[in-house]
Amino acid sequence: MRHSNLLVGQAIAEAAKAIKPGATTMQLNALIETFIRDNGGVPSFLNYPGHDSAYPFSACISVNDAVVHGFPVNTPLKEGDIISVDAGVFKNGFHGDSAYTFALGDPGKDVLELMRVTKASLYKGIAKAVAGNRVGDIAWAVQEYCEKDHKYGVVRELVGHGIGRELHEDPQVPNFGKRGNGAKLNAFMTIAIEPMVNMGKKEVFYDSDGWTVRTKDGKASAHYEHTVCVMPVKADILSSFDNIEAAEKANPHLIDSYY
Ligand code: MF3
Ligand code: CO
Repeated sequence: MRHSNLLVGQAIAEAAKAIKPGATTMQLNALIETFIRDNGGVPSFLNYPGHDSAYPFSACISVNDAVVHGFPVNTPLKEGDIISVDAGVFKNGFHGDSAYTFALGDPGKDVLELMRVTKASLYKGIAKAVAGNRVGDIAWAVQEYCEKDHKYGVVRELVGHGIGRELHEDPQVPNFGKRGNGAKLNAFMTIAIEPMVNMGKKEVFYDSDGWTVRTKDGKASAHYEHTVCVMPVKADILSSFDNIEAAEKANPHLIDSYY
């Protein structure tokens, strides 16, 4: 799973290198798909079954008010956009899943703060992913930080998940809930923790494409995701932002979310 997840991070980093004004999310999707296949993997999201239709792309790329599951499109990106790139890799029988939000140029300090807080909330959740805790401990840590401390809206309709031989396994890992509630976390469970946090209200709706989830109020939303292995004392983070953050720093078009 670490190997699949390493490829996910490298694939998202390939997309990060290519983000600039005029680039399209369709181009980023193609870079991700090519990287995954060139490295012997299969994109986990491609053809994933949905409500009415299978997911038709290799990556989910969600811009500005798009929260998650954004369809890549041929619209050029522009200064001030924020771009959430989510990818999954299946290789050697196991999945990896990770996501990262980029700022193309300056989206304004409020939006950069949303990104920073969302990323930090992911690590608050990961800190609770230790054996003997419960899913609700992760959920509470993320929600408390985002909603109580920062007055953002945490999305309720979509949640993190167990991951392994399947992309989505039990348990569900919500980003909202009560401490001490929910499934027990055991050592060596592998889960994807993925806060989806809105600048404004928590409510979302599905776009007419049947997949892209958008904020109802039209305000920005951020999304960061790691696949982690629950351990005694401290979770082992199987995905990595190292390549992504290096690409983000090296790309002069990207403002880093300085967490
Ligand atoms: N990271 C998302 C998730 O874990 C992406 C899934 S997209 C799908 O749910 F197409 F595979 F559903
Ligand atoms: Co996921």
